[in-house]
This record gives sequence, C-alpha cells and structure tokens, in this order.
Amino acid sequence: MERLKLGILISGRGSNMRALVEACRRGAIPADINLVLSNRADAGGLNVAKAAGLPTQVIAHRDYPDRPLFDAAIDGALRAADVNFVCLAGFMRLLSEGFIEGWYNRMINIHPSLLPAFPGLDTHRRALEAGVRFAGCTVHYVRFATDTGPIIAQAAVPVMPGDTEESLAERVLAAEHRLYPLALRLVGEGRVKIEGERALVDGKPAAAAALLNPAD
Ligand code: GRF
Repeated sequence: MERLKLGILISGRGSNMRALVEACRRGAIPADINLVLSNRADAGGLNVAKAAGLPTQVIAHRDYPDRPLFDAAIDGALRAADVNFVCLAGFMRLLSEGFIEGWYNRMINIHPSLLPAFPGLDTHRRALEAGVRFAGCTVHYVRFATDTGPIIAQAAVPVMPGDTEESLAERVLAAEHRLYPLALRLVGEGRVKIEGERALVDGKPAAAAALLNPAD
C-alpha cells in the first residue's frame, strides 16, 4: 500500500490533529503530513501545526459564494500538496457530495459519540439527556450523510453520575486522542478493508474494538 500523505482539516483548537502529528513523529503511524488546512484563520490548531514545522493553509469559507466552490478550493489545495488521504479533525463544515466522492474511502473523520448514536452537533448534551451509561468516540470513513460511514474503531467511556457536557466531553476527548492515531495506524498499515459498508480490521469485524480499547 502507498505510504499515506495526509491532509488534516481543522476548524479549531486541533487537539486531535496534535495527537496525529505526535504519533506520526514518533513513527507510530506510517504517514507523512503534507498539509494542515483550516477554514478559519483563528484556529488554534494552526499554531500547533506551525510549531511542529508543518505546512499550513487557510481557506476561509466566507471567501466563497457557495459550498461547492469552497470545497473545490480545498480539493485543489490538497491535491497541490500531493495529499492522498484526508483526516477530518474537528472540521466544522459540511462537505459537498462532489468533494466526498473525490476522496471516497480516502477520507476519515472522528466523531465524539458511539455512532450511529448522536451524530451531528451537541453530541454530549444529547447523550446526557438520553441517559446513556456509555459514551465514546468513533473513527469512520466519510460518506454523504453527516457522521455516517464504515466504522474503523470505537472507544467507549463511562458516563459518571453528575457529569456535565464539559466533563463528559473531556473524558471522551482523552479517548479520541488515543483512538484516532490507532485507527489511522491501522489504515496506514493496510489492515483496514471495506466490505459492503463495513470496515474490517485484519479481516475481522470485531477486531477493532478489542484492538483499540484505549485502556490497553
Ligand atoms: C472533537 O471532539 C472531535 O471529535 C469533534 O470536534 C472536536 C474537535 O476538537 N469532531 P479538536 O479541534 O481536535 O481539539
């Protein structure tokens, strides 16, 4: 399998991006990071990427009249940077079908819930309102509907009595920082195959959960 040349898309603080950068640096993920791209000039993650000596670029969605044109600009920047795999890491723009098609099975996302539960925004609030006992995070290939697609890996964390949105988000985020590098490593090592709409790890549907328990 071709070595991964990553484009990481962010909109904010970029803590998941930082986890990916650090894992690539210590050789835990067989990948190079060719570009960190943000749709917001004030994204804190840009400073993290710059400090790590990575190429960064800002493409502001407000500068484009519509989503397809904005997405075309992102696509162009990724291809100009010779990116062959995209990681969404807190990228807060919906992507058009054309863009998703162009990166089909070459783009993954992390979402802070145990999908298919609680896709979209306000995940933690909705999880608390639903009274679930376990929350968590999911790394998945990107499909047309928001926060859907073959699941590569999930990590579960308990919901504790007295949890607030903030305390739950913090517990899930710590799991995200372990899960995303692990999931990307599996992809980079060529161990993830998509069959139907399920992602198999080492040929087995259940392997991901066992392999990627963040407590390991
Ligand atoms: C994370 O919780 C991620 O799962 C979600 O947005 C948040 C981004 O945080 N999609 P960060 O920018 O990676 O710190």
